[in-house]
Amino acid sequence: MEDELIEVLIESARAVRDNAYAPYSGFRVGAAVISDTGKIYVGCNVENGSYGATLCAERAAIAQMVASGEKRVVTVAIVADGDEPAMPCGICRQVIVELGPGAEIVSSNLRKTKHSSIQQLLPDPFVFKRER
Ligand code: THU
Repeated sequence: MEDELIEVLIESARAVRDNAYAPYSGFRVGAAVISDTGKIYVGCNVENGSYGATLCAERAAIAQMVASGEKRVVTVAIVADGDEPAMPCGICRQVIVELGPGAEIVSSNLRKTKHSSIQQLLPDPFVFKRER
């Protein structure tokens, strides 16, 4: 994906990160995905007092995309403020690979940006096959 669009995606993730609800960890995450129709969807982490109910930013963004009637992720940008660029957690990788098998992942910590692919991050994902 071209550099200018990547910059727009990172900026979208950076902006939505301000809306994160992270009173427990204090770790705010913003994500933006671009679909195969070129639309951008954003999400932030939404924590919960029942910790396991916490929703990650990447899955929040993908849920927005699906709710809008889209099914294909092309690029995912993730922004957080850690020492290193924020990589998607295992559950998010599984969700990204199903809706974007060739997705490009752009991780940023506001100082540096790291590029990877979902194929690199989750090379042998679980694929659901009904028993027969
Ligand atoms: N988090 C994300 O939003 N995305 C990830 O890929 C990993 C973790 C959030 C969940 C929680 O609110 C906080 O970061 C600390 O784990």
